Amino acid sequence: MKKFVLFFGIILFAASLLAQKFQGLALTPPMGWNSWNTFEVNITEDLIRETADIMVSSGMKDAGYIYLVIDDGWESKSRDEMGNLVADPVKFPNGMKAVSDYVHSKGLKFGIHNCAGRTTCSGYPGGMGHEFQDALMYASWGVDYLKYDWCDHGTGDARQLYSTMRDALYAAKRPVLFSLCEWGSNKPWEWAADVGHMWRTTGDVTDCYNCQGEYDLGMIFILKLQEGLEKYAGPGHWNDPDMLEVGNPGLTLTESRSQFSLWCMLAAPLMAGNDLRKMSPDILKILTNRQAIAIDQDSLGKQAYLYMDHLSKRIYVKELSGGDWAICWHNTGDQAYFQRINWAHFTFLQGEYEIRDVWKDKVTGTTAKNTEVEIASHDVLMVRLSKKR
Ligand code: GLA
Repeated sequence: MKKFVLFFGIILFAASLLAQKFQGLALTPPMGWNSWNTFEVNITEDLIRETADIMVSSGMKDAGYIYLVIDDGWESKSRDEMGNLVADPVKFPNGMKAVSDYVHSKGLKFGIHNCAGRTTCSGYPGGMGHEFQDALMYASWGVDYLKYDWCDHGTGDARQLYSTMRDALYAAKRPVLFSLCEWGSNKPWEWAADVGHMWRTTGDVTDCYNCQGEYDLGMIFILKLQEGLEKYAGPGHWNDPDMLEVGNPGLTLTESRSQFSLWCMLAAPLMAGNDLRKMSPDILKILTNRQAIAIDQDSLGKQAYLYMDHLSKRIYVKELSGGDWAICWHNTGDQAYFQRINWAHFTFLQGEYEIRDVWKDKVTGTTAKNTEVEIASHDVLMVRLSKKR
């Protein structure tokens, strides 16, 4: 009996050693590009190679966009006779390892998509029941990032299914950033900090400011759904309000800049989702704004909270390392408004701060004097405050 208890104890101990995610992979919110928002399942090896090239040549990689993630649609419609996942032979004639090698040769990291259910949302083989086999395959392809979706899960338990995949990735021994795409259905913020490095908090974002589709939501609705979740985010575990629509046709340039600003305030993962081959200089400027990115990537890892919500005026506040603060005013209305800022009203400020306007990229004054500024419809004013020395 004693032997049995000891044996059982050892098994449990071994299992608990396996039950962990890879640590240290996302100390700041992950940044990269993902194929879904623009291309859906219409992806090819050529597109991925070209995108990797542009991530480097445009300066995006230097700005922090490291992960190139291939979303749904890369697979063949069925597994091979051994049950292995197979790349679509027409879209990816050289297989996923060749794509991954190319991405790595550019100094980028390689990400892929699959699903905790039986099939992905676009009807390709999902991971359910194949987790350990698939994790080994991903490791052999050099996968660095796995986005794991939630379609066709039947009565499956989210926490259990995602934990199984976490364990499988860990057992395969290649560090993989694990991105849970469970749409917030089972409140992953309450249980997923030990499971993955980021978790979706909502259904899919779409490229419009305030529309609602059957399954997708404009940026303003997604934003609303983040309220109150700030306490769950931090280094290694982030709320994911879905990818960027910056540069996609349904957003104006102003709205693109606002989405970027607000996602940076939220310490959101910054996954660009535009066609980099057609990116205008203005969009590249938004995506690579160093001041905004520094706010997103701040080492304190705090997500902004909604400080005030009044009519069409929303104010977000994000605490930064070194005693700095980021504040962002967002005009959700159809008309511009004048904002008079009496800095003394922000009682968390102590003493005088220098004000840096993130989009003008210059110091515009100090908090000793009121600021007056016009904020256009759907636009933002985003500032960083640093203690005056
Ligand atoms: C779901 C996800 C999207 C995308 C698609 C792919 O809708 O939420 O981000 O991955 O599946 O089919």
